[in-house]
Amino acid sequence: MDIKKYIKIANSLKKRAYAPYSKFNVVALIVLRNLDYVVGVNVENASFGLTMCAERNALFSLISQGFNLEEIEMMIIVGKTLKPIAPCGACLQVMNELLPKNTKIILANYNYDIKETNIESLLPYSFDSFKD
Ligand code: THU
Repeated sequence: MDIKKYIKIANSLKKRAYAPYSKFNVVALIVLRNLDYVVGVNVENASFGLTMCAERNALFSLISQGFNLEEIEMMIIVGKTLKPIAPCGACLQVMNELLPKNTKIILANYNYDIKETNIESLLPYSFDSFKD
């Protein structure tokens, strides 16, 4: 899978983010098995706590558009960070619920620095008791 291609796409889409307060534009791409992708960007609000991260927007959009979670191949998150971006705790909890087990997660920045990981490594002892 051509990770650089998706970082390039994220770079071209980062202007879609609505981040007038932090000026920190984040793009999350959920790549499907057919190599198409669903986009999420962060959307901020003057009431700061209402801000929604790119990761959750991507996952909620995928579900809203009627895709099946099993179609997910990889999630790639790109932010304006020195090292590859780390998703926030709230996003990790949602990713843990919705991403198929062992989904490849690529954390990146716009300089093409990459960290490949998975949800088990990012959120090892997770709350998912309703699934047991
Ligand atoms: N943000 C994301 O969208 N994803 C992350 O992984 C980290 C933070 C957003 C929330 C807010 O709009 C801005 O980045 C600064 O925290």
